This record gives sequence, C-alpha cells and structure tokens, in this order.
Amino acid sequence: MPKTLMCPKELLAIDLSGRTYIVTGGNSGVGLVTVGQLAKQGAHVVLACRRPQEGEKVKSQIISVGIRGSIEVLDLDLASLASVRS
Ligand SMILES: NC(=O)c1ccc[n+]([C@@H]2O[C@H](COP(=O)([O-])OP(=O)(O)OC[C@H]3O[C@@H](n4cnc5c(N)ncnc54)[C@H](OP(=O)(O)O)[C@@H]3O)[C@@H](O)[C@H]2O)c1
Repeated sequence: MPKTLMCPKELLAIDLSGRTYIVTGGNSGVGLVTVGQLAKQGAHVVLACRRPQEGEKVKSQIISVGIRGSIEVLDLDLASLASVRS
C-alpha cells in the first residue's frame, strides 16, 4: 500500500498575514480547500475562477466558517490567453 503524504501540521499553523496568494480553480476541489486554509492562516487570497458568481458563493461559505485573512474573487479563464493577460 502506498504511503499517504500529508502536509506537516506546523505548516498549517504558520501566520500568513501580509502575504497574498492567487489560487486558480479556487471555487472547487483542491483549490477551494487551499483558499480556505490560506485565508484561515491570515493570508489575502485571490480566488481566481472562470465562474465568478460561483466564486462569490464559495467566498461567503468560507467566510461564514471564520477566517483571519481575506478573499477576493477574480474572473480568470485559463483557456483564454486574453483572460490570463487581463
Ligand atoms: N496528483 C494528485 O494526486 C492529484 C490529486 C487530486 C487532484 N489533482 C489534480 O488537481 C487538479 C484539481 O483537482 P480537483 O479534484 O480539485 O478538480 P475539480 O474539483 O474539478 O476542480 C478543477 C477546477 O479547475 C477549474 N477549471 C477548469 N478549467 C478551467 C479554466 N479553463 N479556467 C479556469 N479554471 C478552470 C474548475 O472550474 P469550474 O468549477 O468552473 O469547472 C475547478 O475550479 C486537477 O488537475 C487534478 O487532476 C491531482
């Protein structure tokens, strides 16, 4: 059976205040969990996704659970170079 690799617990307790992260595909799956964890640790997180309305919904859900940082939703379609540039 392969060994499951986990993030060391101490990394999940680091204060990320003053840092900004951009998470693509932040509205679901791995991206959503990443946005929540970074914001919980005090970071400012740019939740970049191609369905901003869904992003705003997810942002409200994460905030309702309680975070120390902040979340900003940005429209980003990675299949469009124009969207990536803007
Ligand atoms: N190596 C590993 O062990 C492992 C484990 C888990 C996941 N992964 C990989 O990690 C990635 C995420 O997995 P997941 O389970 O979190 O998948 P997911 O829940 O399907 O999330 C994918 C995200 O990417 C977004 N997305 C897709 N096309 C996009 C585009 N053109 N522009 C902007 N955003 C786009 C989706 O947005 P919409 O909601 O708008 O569709 C969604 O937010 C996948 O590539 C998966 O293969 C790898």
